[in-house]
Amino acid sequence: MSDGTGVSARDAAPDIASDEPITGKFPLPAPPIDWSLLPSPCYVIDEGLLIRNLKLLRDVADAAECKILLAQKAFSMYSFYPLISEYLDGAASSSLFEARLAREEMRKEVHIYAPAYRDDEFDEIRRICDHVVFNSAAQWRRFASRIRGEKSAGENKKININKRSRGLVPLRGTGRSPSGENSAGKTAEARPPSCGIRVNPEYSEIETEIYNPCAPRSRLGTTAAEFEADMKEITRISAGENDFDSPAGLEGLHFHTMCEQGTDTLERTLAVFEKKFGKYLRSVKWVNFGGGHHITRADYDITLLVRLIRRFREKYGVDVYLEPGEAIALNAGFLAATVLDITRNGMDIALLDASAACHMPDVLEMPYTPHILGSAAPGAIQSGNHPHIYRLGSSTCLSGDVIGDYAFRRRLVPGDRLVFCDMAIYTMVKNNTFNGVNLPSIVIHTRKGECRVIKTFGYEDFKSRLS
Ligand SMILES: Cc1ncc(COP(=O)(O)O)c(C=O)c1O
Repeated sequence: MSDGTGVSARDAAPDIASDEPITGKFPLPAPPIDWSLLPSPCYVIDEGLLIRNLKLLRDVADAAECKILLAQKAFSMYSFYPLISEYLDGAASSSLFEARLAREEMRKEVHIYAPAYRDDEFDEIRRICDHVVFNSAAQWRRFASRIRGEKSAGENKKININKRSRGLVPLRGTGRSPSGENSAGKTAEARPPSCGIRVNPEYSEIETEIYNPCAPRSRLGTTAAEFEADMKEITRISAGENDFDSPAGLEGLHFHTMCEQGTDTLERTLAVFEKKFGKYLRSVKWVNFGGGHHITRADYDITLLVRLIRRFREKYGVDVYLEPGEAIALNAGFLAATVLDITRNGMDIALLDASAACHMPDVLEMPYTPHILGSAAPGAIQSGNHPHIYRLGSSTCLSGDVIGDYAFRRRLVPGDRLVFCDMAIYTMVKNNTFNGVNLPSIVIHTRKGECRVIKTFGYEDFKSRLS
């Protein structure tokens, strides 16, 4: 903030520990940034805080002897991909475009999972991905021959599913290098990706329904009952024998059932997963435990995570992958916004140049209230430190475009800068220009303490997505 009377990052830093908890409260010393010098609104990603997370994740991967991928859906800031690739083993993608981004900018392992693949995109997916995870046996059968590079998208449509299945052979030993020697997809042409199926263990401790992949009638992953029936059929067709425990042609299983959770949840999840899918685990080469592991959160039990992974690897002789998104850039980014106006309707309301709907949609979807440096939850009024309560909203027409209620130490005035915490993840990847609201600039706060504005947006970016 420009006038230094209470909500700038510098002034707020010593006060943070005494704030009443708000979800997303910033647990670290705030970086020494003069927010008033930055464009508004802007996302600021702190390189030092990002590296802090990456180092921890590398230590976990080394101790557990597992591989950790960046789930790009949470954080696709590719200017950091060279840095991220120094610590992580690759990237998990949800689409062809994310896979391309990882292949072009990171050059390590590229994995993909999508609930369903498009015919017209699959050949490129096959060419650039090291792991392809299918949502169902039907999807796998549909694309199995394309995985082997046998025919084009057009030809594929004409062929009957059972005939295609008959030709399946185990796709073992792809021999890919995790160091990205197949970058640019050249070697990938010769070697088919390693294939897996996402299963649904029907066990999740996620309480928010829209984030729960195991909610009743979920489309995400194959249940144990469906999987068993599919494997019987596939094994009968491909191997001509009744070896139901051998999912011929598959090299891996994938599950994703967690969200912002700890190792206690993973331990209970693994128990269910092993009970339901244990009989297949000695026949596969890798198991991907998905994302949702909040590894870089202060209270996360890393020792237990390492123990769980090592036990699993040794018991089944498989490679273990984790693909967290949040944990990579947790608490490593901020969104700086400016107060445009103050109005009153039953309480003080501050209108900002940042929007929940456009710039931090999880605030509405999850929903949650992000922490603001130097602010407190309205309950803190009792302490007397933060007597001024405001509802913060945006300048869009959506009446629900409200970020939350906050208490400040002094009155807000137009021109004040407010700094929202934990804004690196699920923000830039999800933002939009609803109402023609501009996108926030993107700034890196480097290890050397400099702020570098690496991207700004304008009318042309808005217009180019319309016609
Ligand atoms: C399949 C899959 N993998 C990984 C992730 C990343 O999860 P998180 O960012 O919570 O770690 C998600 C998130 O939705 C996911 O759906």
